[in-house]
Amino acid sequence: MTDLPFGQLRQTMSLGVIGFGNIAEAIVTRLEKEDLIYPRDIITIETNKDRALHIKRKYGVTVLKDYASLCTRSSVILLSVKPQNIDEVLPLLKKHHTNQLILTVVTGVAIKKYERELGSNIRLIRIMPNTPALIGLGMSAYFASNKCTDKDKWLCHKIFTCVGNTLEIKNEALLDPITATSGSGPAYVYQFAQSLIDAAIKQGIKPAIAKTLILETLRGATEMMMQSKESIDVLTGRVATKGGTTEAGIKVLKKEGFYRAIDGCVKAATKRAKELSR
Ligand SMILES: NC(=O)c1ccc[n+]([C@@H]2O[C@H](COP(=O)([O-])OP(=O)(O)OC[C@H]3O[C@@H](n4cnc5c(N)ncnc54)[C@H](OP(=O)(O)O)[C@@H]3O)[C@@H](O)[C@H]2O)c1
Repeated sequence: MTDLPFGQLRQTMSLGVIGFGNIAEAIVTRLEKEDLIYPRDIITIETNKDRALHIKRKYGVTVLKDYASLCTRSSVILLSVKPQNIDEVLPLLKKHHTNQLILTVVTGVAIKKYERELGSNIRLIRIMPNTPALIGLGMSAYFASNKCTDKDKWLCHKIFTCVGNTLEIKNEALLDPITATSGSGPAYVYQFAQSLIDAAIKQGIKPAIAKTLILETLRGATEMMMQSKESIDVLTGRVATKGGTTEAGIKVLKKEGFYRAIDGCVKAATKRAKELSR
């Protein structure tokens, strides 16, 4: 999204966070670091007492107990509780919400449920981030309800771009396969990395060295894929020369069903995302 003439985020937004866990902390850390919001413009309801104390001390945000104050003081509300806690939040929000923009990262809760609980006029954006957001390298996809304005989308884009890359999707149903790929994806990559490390160790490489070799290889290969204009298959071909070592390895990946396993993994995760969706 190109920059739109909506001014500075800092002058535009006061952020009310409901559930200040990992994802909310990642977002607030970056917003504050990049000077995009004043700590005094962040208020939160966080029911975990230890966590509430931690975020108050670390980020200088105001921790509130009641939804009336949170709603009065927020122009944008970020919902970031776990899915199992959403049913306790929505009735309270309904009482005090005055049509502020709602950004929700809560997995698997469809816009129609929010509309049912909060009213069909809400401006709400569903976002699926992933955990590399914690280090500013997240990938977030978002879908905006039909009442959202360009400014709402701009705000969402600005906020989530602080924690990585962001893109808008135009079909809410795609959030299920997105959950199954970029949402869950870091875990698949960790498992792939671990299996390469284990295999290297079996071939006699010391664990610490194996870990460095594999993680740097993953970093380099990812950068190559991002920077190169060539397709992933062409890049693969540049490593896997005919009759060489890489080709011998890739033959086994094919024979042992590596590609089928990845396809099955994404299918199963998408199916589960659909089952959990409400
Ligand atoms: N982490 C990820 O990779 C990721 C990726 C995509 C989407 N998401 C989604 O993002 C949401 C937040 O994830 P997270 O990892 O940041 O979760 P989290 O670390 O568990 O944070 C949620 C926080 O909300 C608190 N809380 C529970 N009930 C509350 C209530 N009624 N009002 C206010 N606060 C309440 C929790 O306290 P307690 O711990 O005491 O319950 C916890 O501190 C989830 O819905 C998750 O599915 C996460």
